Amino acid sequence: MLRLQLPTDPRWVDVAKMSLEEILVDHAYCEQKAASSCISLIIKFPEYERMVDVLVPVVAEEWAHFESVMEQIRKRGYKFGFPRKDEYVVQLQGFVRKGGSRTDQLTEHLLMNALIEARSCERFKILWKNLADEELKQFYHELMISEAGHYVNFIQLAKSYNDPGKVDQRWAEWLAFEKGVMEHLAIRGDRMH
Ligand SMILES: [Fe+2]
Ligand SMILES: [Fe+2]
Repeated sequence: MLRLQLPTDPRWVDVAKMSLEEILVDHAYCEQKAASSCISLIIKFPEYERMVDVLVPVVAEEWAHFESVMEQIRKRGYKFGFPRKDEYVVQLQGFVRKGGSRTDQLTEHLLMNALIEARSCERFKILWKNLADEELKQFYHELMISEAGHYVNFIQLAKSYNDPGKVDQRWAEWLAFEKGVMEHLAIRGDRMH
């Protein structure tokens, strides 16, 4: 369903080598960025009323995810800290095409968000399947479902505002670009991406 062109390298989920503390802190910031990104879309494109109405509750959901990750960090006695550099997101942002109509601009942002949701969903699935901790397994299973819903939201919004054929074509370009990004990113057991 997600149509990602490169599955996560199995070495990423070498649980023995993975730092759960670092992963959780990095994950908390992914949720913060997801919430912030929806807020930005609402502020930048307020005239797209349906999008605003769809994203307002998503902001609350992402922030609830942030809160849940923080809870996991606290209850394990892990240390929260500063945000990590997110090379993955930085590279995707570089692919956002400038210019065109406002709807084209909005489409670019919706597709970038859809892609980040799709990849998160894929990674959460891997964590759900591979972690030993029962509580965290359950936790990642729930988040996987939620992020899959967000992915669908973003794609549907893009297609409702722009020509669906054009959106599909651009989506294929985004998927191909993301594949290249994944191929070149170092595999780290302390980051979500
Ligand atoms: Fe989330
Ligand atoms: Fe999400």
